[in-house]
Formats: sequence, C-alpha cells, structure tokens
Amino acid sequence: MNPFAQFFPRLFSLARRHLILTSVLVLLCLVFAFFGFWIGFIQIVVLLVPIALIAWTLIARRIAKRGESGGMSEAIAVCSYIALASVATFAIIQAVPYGKDHTNPSNYNRQYEPNWDSTATRDLVVRACYGCHSNEVEYPSYSKIAPISWMVASHVDEGRSAVNFSTITKDGNANHDLRESIEIIQEGEMPPSYYTHFGKHPEAKLTAEERQQLIAGLTATANR
Ligand code: HEC
Repeated sequence: MNPFAQFFPRLFSLARRHLILTSVLVLLCLVFAFFGFWIGFIQIVVLLVPIALIAWTLIARRIAKRGESGGMSEAIAVCSYIALASVATFAIIQAVPYGKDHTNPSNYNRQYEPNWDSTATRDLVVRACYGCHSNEVEYPSYSKIAPISWMVASHVDEGRSAVNFSTITKDGNANHDLRESIEIIQEGEMPPSYYTHFGKHPEAKLTAEERQQLIAGLTATANR
C-alpha cells in the first residue's frame, strides 16, 4: 500500500471529519513557528516535515485497514500517531552530525584580538559576546541535544562569520567590526534577546551602566 496515494483527498476528508482537532493542530504549528522565531532559530520548523510524514504513514495505514471511521477513536488514533511521530523524529535527529562538534578552532591565538583599551572592556565583551563571536565558545551541556545543538551551532557559525573577536585583527576588518559592534549595542540588538531567555547566560545581561561602559571601551579600543 502506498500511504501517499490520494494524499490530498484523504487528508482533506480527514480534516473535515475532525474540524476542531485540525484547528488545534494548525494553531500548534503556528505556536511552534513563533517559538522558533522567539529563540532565534526559525529553521526549527523543518522538524514538522518528518513528524508529518511519519504520522501520515501511520494514519494512512489505519484508514486502509478500518476505513474513514471518524469519531472519537479516530481522533485519538491521530493524536497518538502524531505523538509517536514526534518522539521518533526526536530520536532520529540525534544521529544528525551537524552541531555535534564542540571544539573551538585549535589555532586560537590571543595576538589576533583587538588592542583592548583595558581588561575591563575585554571582560565585558567576553561576558556578552564571546558566546557566539569568538574561538572561546563555552558550550552548555544542553547544547549536545538536537535540535538545541543545531540552534547553538547556527548562532556560533553566523556570529563568527559576522565578527570574530579572536581573529579580528587577522581578518583585517578590526576597526570596521568594532564600530559596527558599537552601533549594534547602541541599537540594543546585541547580545540578542534570545541569548538570555529562560535565565540562560545571566552574565550576558548587561545593566544600562555596563552597556555604556562597553560602548565607551569599544570606542576607546577602536580609536587606539
Ligand atoms: C547568541 C549569540 C550571539 C551573541 C551572544 C552576540 N551575537 Fe552578535 N551576532 C550573532 C549572530 C547569529 C549574528 C548574525 C546574524 C544577525 O545579524 O542577527 C550576529 C551579528 C553581529 C554583528 C554584525 C551585524 C550586521 O549587521 O552585520 C555584530 C557587529 C555583532 N553581532 C556584535 C555583537 C556584540 C558586540 C555582541 C556582544 C555585546 C554580540 N554580537 C553578541 C549572534 C550573537
């Protein structure tokens, strides 16, 4: 049996039989997408694809066996299959290699850092920015689990490619990167709000005073 034969007619008639359940599921998908956006990793919505494929395979098998039965028992079966598909997807994605490598580039050498105006400035940048913009990333234990590992890897990859404070002078854009950093801190965009959600990384939550101190320190460093 091909579970995807007559996919759309079967899907639509299933949705029509279970209008409330369908609305709840659509709403849950939207909440999931909003959550992805909120944690700065909208890409997480791709997980809905394997969940839907696995769940549909199970649902189609049930329809082939019992017909379009409708009613409570079919609704419960659909919910169980979706739950099962979610657990299976979570298990399967643990095998994806992306995000597993937590080694910082080994050729790390402080000589390529900016010519900091003071150690206080460096300390603030380490606290607020090094989690994504350096070769000294400290990976928390929960970042071993997919899809969190994917989220962390994507933030570090994108962060490093924008600005890497560990290689900033070697990369040749030190002054430009420092000025861009000052601007982006003034705009309140960095560190990103998602970095301190759930009480994570409290050291990166700067007070207004520390923020001013950081801007002044980066300005002094850029003017050296
Ligand atoms: C949670 C990881 C994370 C932290 C912490 C973080 N950044 Fe970023 N940063 C990113 C990512 C991801 C990007 C690239 C995508 C974007 O612009 O949102 C980025 C981009 C940037 C850019 C380039 C912006 C542009 O428009 O090209 C600058 C400059 C920057 N960050 C500075 C900082 C500074 C300064 C800090 C500390 C005060 C900081 N970031 C903290 C993740 C982070």
